[in-house]
Amino acid sequence: MKTIIIQFGGTGDLALKKLYPAYEDLLAKGFDFTVLALGRRFTNKEDFLATMVRKEASQEFLSRMDYLYYDMADPKATEALRDRMLEIIANAKEVELIYYMALQPSLYEDAIRQIQVVDSQMSCSCTLSKKIVVEKPFGFDLQSAERYNSILLKAFSDKEIYRVDHYLGKEFMQNLLILRFHNDIIRSIWDNRSIESIQIIFDETHGVDQRLGFYEQIGVVRDTIQNHIMQIITYLTMNEPATLSPEDIAIEKVKVLRSIAPVTDFHTGRYESLGANSGHVVNTPTYAALKLSVNTYYFAGIPIYIRTGKMQKEAKSLIYVKFRNTTGMVMHDSTIAENGVIITIHPELTIDISMNLKEPNTSWKSKPVRFRFNQAETFGANTPEAYEQIVRKILQGDKSLFPSMREINESWRIVAPMLADDLPMEVYPVRTLPRFAADLAKSNGFKWFS
Ligand code: BG6
Repeated sequence: MKTIIIQFGGTGDLALKKLYPAYEDLLAKGFDFTVLALGRRFTNKEDFLATMVRKEASQEFLSRMDYLYYDMADPKATEALRDRMLEIIANAKEVELIYYMALQPSLYEDAIRQIQVVDSQMSCSCTLSKKIVVEKPFGFDLQSAERYNSILLKAFSDKEIYRVDHYLGKEFMQNLLILRFHNDIIRSIWDNRSIESIQIIFDETHGVDQRLGFYEQIGVVRDTIQNHIMQIITYLTMNEPATLSPEDIAIEKVKVLRSIAPVTDFHTGRYESLGANSGHVVNTPTYAALKLSVNTYYFAGIPIYIRTGKMQKEAKSLIYVKFRNTTGMVMHDSTIAENGVIITIHPELTIDISMNLKEPNTSWKSKPVRFRFNQAETFGANTPEAYEQIVRKILQGDKSLFPSMREINESWRIVAPMLADDLPMEVYPVRTLPRFAADLAKSNGFKWFS
């Protein structure tokens, strides 16, 4: 079978930083496909390769990369695309077309329409199958997501549509399910009888950088909260799926999302130098702090505190599950610390269980100690990148790492109040935690985990 990935947004940041390295690795591992990158940035293939592909790339990889200057505004664009695709197909008997959309959401509708045109005009003496891959955020809000989906469904069946959230390709995400469902000792403590609160912290040191044009339209809520953070919450709180089929996993995730009310307790802000390079200030939130709860039988009553955004002093990604501290009360000893599970994603993938054990040379005094799993030390540093996992699954036709449309719609419903245009937005100095994040902790009587 000849597989062709038609890369919309083929000269963009995502393609450069994540997709092409993933393609290179997968080709080196024996996967068999050709990439046709589309873009306006270069007029020819040589310039495209010189900029978009690393210098040391293998000949094999280079031979699989093709480029077409593609201006979506040109009415003849689809003809040129169709002709180039037919050239690549040549005499192949069985062909799979994978349309990969790594574009700004504002371009989705046009791109999907163009794909429909190309698709309806493809004729070859071969058996054709197709897939379409759509990057997050899927839409701008609930209405546009539903609209994009209905346009997509005119040309593709739901089975052929892969909606990407690359966090599902991350090792720590998959490990969350294994940690919860392959360990009986965890099962019995993972609910509102034992858990007091959960924190999700995703602080990044970088700003929006070269992605300003994209980010300007998106902001932190659409960029990471509607997708990555919501998916993390489902993995932290879903019931065990009946099987690991994509359908059964989606059923459990949807139950979690449907139980979450639209967020009302939140604040957003932007860092003060945003847009300074381009000479204008952009009103796009780059940081948010919020509180929500999963109102299912086993998780209702556990506050989930989230903070995430850009231009922070330290890159820190972690999930902190804090257990109730009944022991301190029963023993009349306020120095007894709580137990907790700390899943650190950045700078290193580790899982710590914090316990209290006797401090030497004391009389019945305990001290918190950590039992640690370190992914790199235990399994080596060669964990595949998230995008490699995602693309591998697309090639294999396995949808278990892709959010379903219902999950996407529910996530838009939950974050809807955070998307209003007229929200107050704190301007925070770069490398500092916005004041509202500290205030959220103060007013709810907790401390951000550090
Ligand atoms: C992307 C966002 O989806 O995720 C970026 O668009 C963010 O703004 C990135 O920085 C974080 O992903 P990772 O894989 O670096 O944790």
